[in-house]
Amino acid sequence: MRQIGKFITIEGGEGVGKSSNIAFIAEWLRQHGKDVIVTREPGGTPLAERIRQILLDKTETTMCSDTELLLMFAARAQHIDEVIRPAIQNGQWIVCDRFTDATYAYQGGGRGVSLERIALLETWVQGNLRPDLTFLLDLPVHQGMQRASNRSAPDRFEQEQAEFFERVRACYRLRATQEPTRFRVIDAAPALQQVQAQIEQVLHAIV
Ligand code: TMP
Repeated sequence: MRQIGKFITIEGGEGVGKSSNIAFIAEWLRQHGKDVIVTREPGGTPLAERIRQILLDKTETTMCSDTELLLMFAARAQHIDEVIRPAIQNGQWIVCDRFTDATYAYQGGGRGVSLERIALLETWVQGNLRPDLTFLLDLPVHQGMQRASNRSAPDRFEQEQAEFFERVRACYRLRATQEPTRFRVIDAAPALQQVQAQIEQVLHAIV
């Protein structure tokens, strides 16, 4: 009988530890016999990765918020068509680094694009496709920015000010309260092992 996978997304602001925790989730699921693919947004296909390069390029100083929004959804349409829907058809477990909640948080909360406009594009591009489960790694903005500052040169988003990331965080947290069955809010402040213990508890409940 064909397996039924799940579509899991991982969200959060800058420096919340998405990469290490995504690797942990994928490894944990594989150890529990699941066929897992790890992917990301914006990106996940050759074309969508090219769109990502434009979106993150900090020399793109004149990009207006509608262009940014449409490029996010252009990349997403390609990713859904080439990767996500086929993986769902194959019964695979998809672990995706960001998805449309990031558009609500960054373009909606951060840039101030109307949420109705985002919702229209969401329905247009995704139909009824939504994640089954979303981990929100939550961390006070100043801590996240401090962690992120130890990395390579900031991209177009990372060079935004703290107030932008406060709005991003507030929007994520609001969405989590509005959809409590889909979201699991993880306190990303403690040491990695403790963060992973919280994640593991959630995973145990769904496999
Ligand atoms: P990453 O650094 O987590 O790979 O994500 C790249 C940047 O893209 C990050 O700063 C968040 C931003 N982003 C949006 O603004 N909207 C979106 O819909 C997505 C998926 C990402």
